[in-house]
Amino acid sequence: MASPGPSADASATRNPLTLLTVDELRQRTSVKWRMYPPDVLPLWVAEMDVPLAPPVADALRRAVDLGDTGYAYGTAYAEALGDFAARRWGWHDFRVERTTLVPDVMMGVVEVLRLVTDPGDAVVLCSPVYPPFYAFVTHADRQVIEAPLGPDRRMDPAALDEAFRRARSRGRRPAFLLCNPHNPTGVVHRRDELETVAELADRHGVRVVSDEIHAPLVLPGTHFTPYLTVAGAENAFALTSASKAWNLAGLKAALAVAGPRAVADLRRMPEEVSHGPSHLGVVAHTAAFRAGGPWLDLLLDGLDGNRTLLATLLAKHLPSVAHHRPEGTYLAWLDCTALGIATERPDEPGVVSDVAGPARMFLDRARVALSSGHVFGTGGAGFVRLNFATSPAVLTEAVTRMGQAVEAHRSAPLPRSPG
Ligand SMILES: Cc1ncc(COP(=O)(O)O)c(C=O)c1O
Repeated sequence: MASPGPSADASATRNPLTLLTVDELRQRTSVKWRMYPPDVLPLWVAEMDVPLAPPVADALRRAVDLGDTGYAYGTAYAEALGDFAARRWGWHDFRVERTTLVPDVMMGVVEVLRLVTDPGDAVVLCSPVYPPFYAFVTHADRQVIEAPLGPDRRMDPAALDEAFRRARSRGRRPAFLLCNPHNPTGVVHRRDELETVAELADRHGVRVVSDEIHAPLVLPGTHFTPYLTVAGAENAFALTSASKAWNLAGLKAALAVAGPRAVADLRRMPEEVSHGPSHLGVVAHTAAFRAGGPWLDLLLDGLDGNRTLLATLLAKHLPSVAHHRPEGTYLAWLDCTALGIATERPDEPGVVSDVAGPARMFLDRARVALSSGHVFGTGGAGFVRLNFATSPAVLTEAVTRMGQAVEAHRSAPLPRSPG
């Protein structure tokens, strides 16, 4: 039997977003393609509809052929990230000795927060933001304080100043969990904005933890600034992995990186944390950063094309939905407030799979699954997040159906759901 998926040649030279059919994707067993029935187009969770990058698939195949499935060891992952970071972002003082393996980015975030804050201390988030930021922080017994983004969707220095002041007044050791680039808005923070964060954090005694999982996914026209390269960020941490850019969420492995004045904190990381990443995860992530650059460039071109296609489709089928071109990530943050569909439940940030408001209408009426804005915290209700890391054909079908759903909803609104 022929192996499923595209040929090695196609995978190495063509837009990865065009290589798999919906029938092939439906054979996947991960959450994106299994959460909803087969008539639903899933444009929600941050998985991509791409085959594995050839260098990653080759590295995994080699490990399987060798039976190389023991425990992870060594610094190859950090070295590969360091070389990638120097080439792509000009991060030349990246030091392997200032890194440690963690199971994944969110577990890394929690473990770093445990190093730099105490139970009951405050963690500031810029809402709306990736919902697990709320869930993981509160499950770790820390308190969330929101510093909402400004109307331009960028960080608001006055809101941050106020949130840092409140955070400091509540506990001894507050932190700021930065999303760089920002999920769900796709904003890529500029160096001057990050310098302002560093100044404010220093003034208020707040430690910054920067989630940089989307960093390789900055789209043409914008440049990514690693937080640890910013003046004043020496006592900060960054968390990163190849998971988003090479679609490796099922192969757990990430890196925590300490600034030069945070190394002593990093040394206090409990040894058991480094037992979490899987060896095959390390193999895959290392291959991605080491040899996955050409594939990433094909992907970024494809995402850039989808970003333009999405704007055209929205203007045609959903003119009342407001949208701004994301600078990075493969996520579009769609303002559906003009549709007048209320989220009939209180804001409950953190529960990724909760679907209400416009996302509920699009699921029921268009059979398109999106992420519901209300779970992203203050400022999220009335929005939906759309994952455009799919083929232009699926994207076109989904937005066309969404436009038809709005028309149908206008002429006959669905009955209100009880919950
Ligand atoms: C900002 C952000 N951080 C973390 C994650 C999850 O990363 P991991 O699976 O490595 O915990 C995601 C996934 O979409 C994300 O968007």
